[in-house]
Amino acid sequence: MNPITTLYQEHAIIVDAVEVAREAEKLIEKDNEAYLQTMKLLLHFFRVYSDQYHHHKEEEILFPEMNKKNELLEDGVVKEMFENHEDFRNMINTIENHLNTGEYVKAQQQLQNYTEALLDHIAVENDEVFQMAETLFDESELERIYFRFEDCDREIGEQQKTDLVNQLREIKATLMYSQA
Ligand SMILES: [Fe+2]
Ligand SMILES: [Fe+2]
Repeated sequence: MNPITTLYQEHAIIVDAVEVAREAEKLIEKDNEAYLQTMKLLLHFFRVYSDQYHHHKEEEILFPEMNKKNELLEDGVVKEMFENHEDFRNMINTIENHLNTGEYVKAQQQLQNYTEALLDHIAVENDEVFQMAETLFDESELERIYFRFEDCDREIGEQQKTDLVNQLREIKATLMYSQA
């Protein structure tokens, strides 16, 4: 019952989505309609799974608890993580705008920027922030955070979370099939 494990697991799924998003580029030349549909599903995944389920746990629960333990974090790495999340939201909106106007190359360039920034962000959290979190909290504090994470998923909807992961697998399979 370690909440940090939950976050590592979510990161692994988000990294998977990044790989799928990069693969989607190959559809542009082949089939615009399929590209558009795939991108819309991926944007939905990033908005709901990455932002609502995952960033929500960090922003509403983990980071504030870390700041309580060490005030210096609030203006340091934790602040940086909050700013990254905000940038990600803006980048997703920009990608969607490009898709809506049919500017697929621009959408793909912005997606590339987004996925690079997202992978860098995940690396900082995995290598720095989460390791720090594990040293800041004792067993019972970690357990409390774990249960708050569970509540958080329940509030947003556990079934929807599972569905999003299954949908990601389907997109991945479809992309592999279309390239065979
Ligand atoms: Fe984050
Ligand atoms: Fe994260």
